[in-house]
Amino acid sequence: MSDLRGSRILGFGHFQPERVLTNDDLARMVETNDEWIRSRTGIRERHIAGPDDTVYTMGAAAARAAMDDAGVTNADLVVLASTTATDRSPNTAGRVVAELGLDGAAAIDVNTACSGFEYALGLAEQSVRLGTANTAVVIGSETLSAITDWTDRSTCVLTADGAGAVVVGSDPVARISPVVWGTVPGLTDAVRVDGDPQRFSQDGRQIMRWALKDAVGIARRILQTAGVTLDDIDVFAFHQANRRIIEPLVKALGVTDRQIVIHDIEVSGNTSAASVPLGLSKAWHRGELPRGGRALLFGFGGGFAYAGQVVELPE
Ligand code: ACO
Repeated sequence: MSDLRGSRILGFGHFQPERVLTNDDLARMVETNDEWIRSRTGIRERHIAGPDDTVYTMGAAAARAAMDDAGVTNADLVVLASTTATDRSPNTAGRVVAELGLDGAAAIDVNTACSGFEYALGLAEQSVRLGTANTAVVIGSETLSAITDWTDRSTCVLTADGAGAVVVGSDPVARISPVVWGTVPGLTDAVRVDGDPQRFSQDGRQIMRWALKDAVGIARRILQTAGVTLDDIDVFAFHQANRRIIEPLVKALGVTDRQIVIHDIEVSGNTSAASVPLGLSKAWHRGELPRGGRALLFGFGGGFAYAGQVVELPE
């Protein structure tokens, strides 16, 4: 992608809680049904945190798996993206550092909701490229179940829990493109987690309109910034918000049958900052992604923030 000194992804890891909540389970809790949820969102089932699953325990499990996959035993930077961290201090990345015994690693939390992982990867990639970190662990981890109103059928059918992570190391050439990031004027309050108790709410139709109209332009900007064309991409990993957003985006871009599109939403629901690394890591560990291939990552949501980059998969 460039002949400048760069960074690369060394490994993937993920964690999902054991408990699975199906659409039929939800139909017993609120007035909804499997057909509505599948046809409007593409979701069939999702994982929900148990009493011992927290943002940091799930994040640490995903990070440990990514470090094993990468074959590294240490890291000097942890960047964790989440919108469901329970404590203001210590930050969740700091708790992961302690849990993993990464003595003295820098720890940064990022809160840009559903685009959090791509923001975090952008920060980690720059740190490794500049030499301020040698090995970075980048995590997206969420317990959206804790901020879900389980009596509101318009939101409780979407949200889910889980974590995904990657390890970033240095490389003589850039194998992670510069991040494209920003916010959308006028949509600041379209997705919110507020109130007492804190609850997730959104203007679903407004976001859907934006996604169908403007998201494709940002995806093209990510390709342009990476200096590649659509044809150079093997894998598309979009935020798993709704199958009815992913499919039109794929069509508008002109993605072909040769290319892989991650559709983890069907079995994992919407896990906000975790959705892209979770879907990628699961596909990677199933052996479905081409070694050395290129993946386009693109997250968008609360803020209203978006971010994305092109990454080369490990050899
Ligand atoms: N079961 C049955 N009916 C329902 C349900 C449900 N679970 N939820 C809503 N309905 C009803 C509504 O009450 C409404 O009924 P009405 O017409 O009688 O008023 C009807 O279904 C249609 O409701 P809409 O809100 O128009 O449904 P829509 O087709 O827009 O789907 C959805 C809603 C799934 C939220 C969609 O708008 C969406 O996915 N938007 C994008 C959200 C997004 O991408 N967010 C990203 C950031 S947030 C994050 O990722 C954490």
